[in-house]
Order: sequence, then C-alpha cells, then structure tokens
Amino acid sequence: MLSIIVAIANENVIGKDNKLIWHLPEDLKRFKQITSGHKIIMGRKTFESLGRVLPNRKHIILCNDMEMNIDNENVEILDDISKLDKYINSDEECFVIGGATIYKLLMPYSNKMYITKINQSFEGDVYFPEIKEEIWKEVSREKGLKNEENPFDYEYITYVKKDNV
Ligand SMILES: NC(=O)c1ccc[n+]([C@@H]2O[C@H](COP(=O)([O-])OP(=O)(O)OC[C@H]3O[C@@H](n4cnc5c(N)ncnc54)[C@H](OP(=O)(O)O)[C@@H]3O)[C@@H](O)[C@H]2O)c1
Repeated sequence: MLSIIVAIANENVIGKDNKLIWHLPEDLKRFKQITSGHKIIMGRKTFESLGRVLPNRKHIILCNDMEMNIDNENVEILDDISKLDKYINSDEECFVIGGATIYKLLMPYSNKMYITKINQSFEGDVYFPEIKEEIWKEVSREKGLKNEENPFDYEYITYVKKDNV
C-alpha cells in the first residue's frame, strides 16, 4: 500500500525553487523515524532536491529519462507509474515522499497520509492537492514541539482513505 508523507504550510505550499522553504528539524526527525526501513517513492526533482541517497531506505524514483542512472543498489528508476502496481498492491507500507507532481499523481492510489501542517504562510511555487473531506478521514492530530529550533506552530495529522475506515 502507498502512504503519503508531506509537510504543508498555509495555502497548501510545499516548496519553492526545488527546495523546502522552512527548517523544522523535529519534522525531519519524524520523517526519518516513519520512513526508515521502507521504500520511498519520489519524483526526479525531489531526488535532486534531497541531493543524496538517504540511508536505510530503498528509493524508487520516477523519471521519464531512462538514460538517468544512479549507481546505488538502493535506487530503482521507473519511467511509468504502471510499474508501481507491485508496491500499490503490496501489504507493505511504501511512502510517497513528493514532490507536488508525484503527490497529485499518486494520491488516488494512496490509503493513508501523514501530514505535518505548518500554520504559517510562505511564498512558494509548488502546492499539495486539496484534501477532500468526502475522500479522507482525519484519524489523529497532535501538536508539534515548538522551541528555538522549531519556531512554528505545527501539527501532525493522519488521514486514512474513507473506503478503508
Ligand atoms: N513539503 C514537503 O513535504 C515536500 C516533499 C517533497 C518535495 N517537496 C518540494 O516539491 C518540489 C518538487 O516537486 P515537483 O512537482 O517540482 O517535482 P517532483 O514531483 O519531485 O518530480 C517531478 C518529476 O518526476 C518525473 N515524473 C513525473 N511524473 C512522471 C511519470 N508519470 N512518469 C515518469 N516520471 C514522472 C519527471 O521527471 P523528468 O523531468 O526527469 O522526466 C518530473 O519532472 C520541491 O520544491 C521540493 O522541495 C516538498
């Protein structure tokens, strides 16, 4: 099954100039905890934005250019979303980690979403799709730790697709 994991600011902004806009180390720590040991699915631009292969996770990168080659046993490059069927149909939880294009593409195939909602406005150029109430049910909400290093009001919100409730 696919689960989305994303940090979203006001107006659904998720990034700018192929980067994350904010620095929220607590959320990065949580991202690591949730995704470690699992497969992570991303678009080519998000992979470039990460700048490296993350440890202890198999990376599945969507890219139309099959000339692209990353010499790492933890990287698989796919040029067609139908090749994701085995992950969509698997019992194992695989994480969709962005960016905007890939969230939009894979939201219909995802069953769960781990959202970090940052209650702050930023100027951005990429956005998360609308979370439709008729499709998604909120199942948990927890305030994030605010301190000097994490200076925003933010919450961790989990949604599941209503078909599965
Ligand atoms: N806030 C968050 O949690 C979060 C998380 C992740 C990313 N982001 C942000 O999101 C932004 C990047 O998002 P983005 O939408 O520009 O790019 P993206 O979704 O990361 O990657 C888009 C690329 O994926 C490939 N692709 C898309 N659809 C495909 C398909 N059907 N088949 C094969 N390949 C396909 C294409 O690569 P080619 O052009 O090579 O063909 C396309 O250019 C950055 O600002 C990043 O910081 C935010």
